[in-house]
This record gives sequence, structure tokens and C-alpha cells, in this order.
Amino acid sequence: MQHADVLSQPVRIGPLTAPNRIVMPPLVIWKADETGMVTDYHVAHYRRSAGPGLIVVEATAIAPEGRLAATQLGAWSDDQIVGLSRLARVIADAGGLPGIQLHHAGGSTSLKNTCGLPPRVPSLVRGSPDAATEMSAKDIEHTIASFAHAARRALDAGFRVIELHGAHGYLISQFLSPDTNRRPDRWGGSPDSRRSFLLEALRSVRHEISRAGRADSAALTVRLGLAASPPSSLSLEEGCVAAIAAEQAGADLLDVSHGGPIDDELASQIAASFAANFAAKGSGRADEADGWSSTLRLAAIAKTAVSVPVIGVGGIRTPAHAARAVIAGIADLVAVGRGTLADPAWARKALGLDERPIEPCRHCEPHCYWFKEAPRCPARKRLATKGEQEPVA
Ligand SMILES: Cc1cc2nc3c(=O)[nH]c(=O)nc-3n(C[C@H](O)[C@H](O)[C@H](O)COP(=O)(O)O)c2cc1C
Repeated sequence: MQHADVLSQPVRIGPLTAPNRIVMPPLVIWKADETGMVTDYHVAHYRRSAGPGLIVVEATAIAPEGRLAATQLGAWSDDQIVGLSRLARVIADAGGLPGIQLHHAGGSTSLKNTCGLPPRVPSLVRGSPDAATEMSAKDIEHTIASFAHAARRALDAGFRVIELHGAHGYLISQFLSPDTNRRPDRWGGSPDSRRSFLLEALRSVRHEISRAGRADSAALTVRLGLAASPPSSLSLEEGCVAAIAAEQAGADLLDVSHGGPIDDELASQIAASFAANFAAKGSGRADEADGWSSTLRLAAIAKTAVSVPVIGVGGIRTPAHAARAVIAGIADLVAVGRGTLADPAWARKALGLDERPIEPCRHCEPHCYWFKEAPRCPARKRLATKGEQEPVA
């Protein structure tokens, strides 16, 4: 089968069907102002990225003190619903499922980024930002309610897939990790207790979906950091238990990523677990030649633990590579992050709907220019010279 045929297969996500296997994962573009409102730039950005069966709008703050940057999108106020509905509409009008990632940075922020509000952390630890405050039990309940309220706003805006950000060292990861969660109460201590915040947040959003009468038209997912190295370590074993518990708490889909840095030791453990649990069962080879990044391997490992569909992400460069991941059973859906920022027509080109060649992401080092200085992204500059895209502002 051609890779376009593989990637064009629809896939069920809870009550929904994504029309193809490609996902645009959440990718912050820092184009809001301190009010967290959607701008025309966001609308144009998601319109030109059309093609993936599921587009998950970038990390959107559920609370102003949970912002990662002053220019992050927000879903903490009803005033933000109108703008968010413009994003859900452009995505749905182009045939994709509109999803949104609900985010709280916890201690991975600063007073400057929260516009002066003290960051909230599960426990004060070395590395907690200036002026951080440890969350009281009441703060925790309030924050879980804020996830539910933000989900209700997203549903009102027309989003159909609600994703909680439970990866990359942010608040949910901070609760999961014994390095950043030293709480003596029911939210910390044993692995079970450290998982409570994730599971309560999922249950509260699940409840909100039902309360809004959207159980048949909206799906719940979590981007779960399945493993991480210090400073927010999470063992792969605990990550897999969290994945199973997330499914039991109502997740219809699992978006697998890392929970923080992956050092060489953890990468070797992931490779070994992948070889033992997945590759050994026949469908995916364990060797480097297949180009499976650690995060793709984590997706494959999660797939052996849960029965809901799984999104894999990390280093997918070509449509053939993406199709190989689906065929090998590494993941049910494949997310293409930097590839889509580099060439917003990536999915349309991969699906054979646009015959022009993909302008590949250059994987710039030491950082992605899109992240730091979007106009300098070399792929976007090249697309502009070819007349395919407007220069990035
Ligand atoms: C510019 C940029 C912004 C990102 N923003 C988010 C985000 O908002 N939420 C999130 O979970 N991950 C975010 N990520 C991580 C991506 O979703 C993705 O997991 C990562 O880039 C690996 O996929 P790739 O190799 O296809 O780029 C971001 C990555 C980049 C490069």
C-alpha cells in the first residue's frame, strides 16, 4: 500500500472518527497578548495548517497563574470563548477534528511569564521558581475545577477533542514525579497518590463532557509523559500504570510523549522495553534503521498497555516514515510537529492532496527557530521564496 493510502485511513477516537492518521500536535506559537485571546494570526495559522485528521490547538492555559508565557492562549475566562470558537471553526471547516490542549505550567514558569502571579507548585523543591507557592488542598481542588471549566469553554467554542497536558514537566507531570511531588497528604507519597491529580482532572473533564450533553460528540485525551529523567523523574513502569489508569478514568485516546528530559540511561531502558515488549512480538523492528525516536518507542510501549488508540510523536520526517509507524503498529495516529510548522501543507502533501514537494524541517540546533524566532525558520523562508506561503511574522 502507498503511504498516502495508509495515512488516509480513518480511525475511531471514542465517539468520533478522525478522517486520517495524521495529527498536528499542540505547538505554542506565542501570538496572544496578556489577555490570552485568539488573534487573527492564530486563525490564519490553523487555517493554513489544515489537512491532519486531528489538529490539537497549542497549550492553552486554564488559569492565568498557570501560564508558560505572557503570550500564551487562555481558556480561563468566558470572554475567551468567542476567539476559541474561530479556531474550532477553521479546523472543522477544513474537515479535521478540532482539539485543544488544556495546560497548567505549575512550577515551570516565572513571575514574568505569569504577569506577576505567584506560580503554584505541588511541593517547593530545588528549582521551584521565585515566589512559587505550594498548593493547599483547596488550591488543588480549585485547579482541578479550572481544568473542567476550561473544558466547558472549549466545548462551548466547538472543540471536539479535549486534551489535558500531562507531559513535559508541567503541573500534571510535577504531581506524577516523586522529585517534584513531596506532599505528605492524599496527593503525594505513593505512586497511587501521585497519580490522583491526573486522574481527578480527567474525571472532572469527563464529567463536564457528559454534563454538556457532549458524550456522543466529544472525546477526551491526555498527553501523557510516560517516562522522564531528573529533575522530574518518572519510571517507565509508573508511566505505564498511569496510562492504564488514564484509560480507566475516561480517556478515549492517549497522546504519548515524555514527562521531562530523557537521558542516555532512560533512553536505553526505553529501547530495551521496546525490544522486549513490542518488537519481540513481531510488528516493529527494534533497530535504529527504522528511525523510532524514544518518544515513538514510548507510544509503542503504551500501546501494549491500553486498548484506546495511541498517538505517537517525535522525529517523524517523511510521509513514508509516518506510514511505517502506523503499519508497524507503533501508534494508531502519528503527530508531526516541527514538520507541520516548517511546511503547513505537510499533511495535505502526505495524503496526496497537494502534489508539491514537502519542504522539510531542518531540525535546527541549538533550537527550533519557530519556537524562538519564527521568521528565521529556514523552511518557511524557502516556502515564501517559492510563493507557497506568506513569510512568517
Ligand atoms: C515550537 C514548538 C512548540 C511546542 N508546543 C507544544 C505545546 O504547546 N504542547 C505540547 O504538548 N508540546 C509542544 N511541543 C512539542 C510538540 O508537540 C512535539 O511533541 C515535538 O515537537 C516532537 O514532535 P516533532 O519531532 O514532530 O516536532 C512544541 C514543540 C515545538 C517545536
